[in-house]
Amino acid sequence: MRCVVANWKMNLRSGEAQAFCEDLLLRLPEGGSAEVGIAPPFTLLSLVSGLVRPRGLQVFGQNAHAEDKGAFTGEVSMPQLRDVGCSGVLLGHSERRQFFGETDAGLIKKIKAAWQWDLLPLLCIGESLAERDSGATLDVLGRQLSILAETGPGPLWVAYEPVWAIGTGRRAEAPQVQEAHAFIRAELIRHGACTDYEVPILYGGSVTPESFPELLGIPEVAGGLVGGASLDPHKFGELIKQAG
Ligand code: PGA
Repeated sequence: MRCVVANWKMNLRSGEAQAFCEDLLLRLPEGGSAEVGIAPPFTLLSLVSGLVRPRGLQVFGQNAHAEDKGAFTGEVSMPQLRDVGCSGVLLGHSERRQFFGETDAGLIKKIKAAWQWDLLPLLCIGESLAERDSGATLDVLGRQLSILAETGPGPLWVAYEPVWAIGTGRRAEAPQVQEAHAFIRAELIRHGACTDYEVPILYGGSVTPESFPELLGIPEVAGGLVGGASLDPHKFGELIKQAG
């Protein structure tokens, strides 16, 4: 299974999102087999899910709180994501870890909460430039994945996103991606995350229509989590076609 997910981050307003979706839907390949998802900001979830879900696209939240409800000003819960048409949620994006204090311990609770509400977690992991330069990449990935020993198995997608490749135009080289994805697969198996469910491993970090075909040729790369290029329906439509 190939997967392509748009991470819009904190971009677009309703008029722009509507125009994007209308344009993208015209570009969807006939009989395409890739799973396609869009992760808009919370304010656009209802609008986007109303437009794209009838055409079989999935809608993801970009984050959610682990509690169902309560006094958590500024937060959004898993049942609230379900309520506006989400089928999944991004968890542990490096921007959440870096700027909003997301921790591995917190992610254990969030993954369990997502499963409780029948949402597919898309767990994002990846090393910083300093970690890569010091040779700690696999240690970091191993630590980030060790939370799966606590959550137990369940439906899951994983995105390997080297932090230094996100939004920088500097994509990881094929051997680096191959090494990381092979390691992630081995860790998923070791933690029992792959026994019951097929877990696709996506690559993220400056994915473009120019770089995607090579990435898709790397063993264990099941698709892409795409930021910048996903804001352009032409480019995102190309990525969907390339995924088949
Ligand atoms: P980018 O973002 O494609 O703009 O590098 C990817 C991501 O952060 O998911």
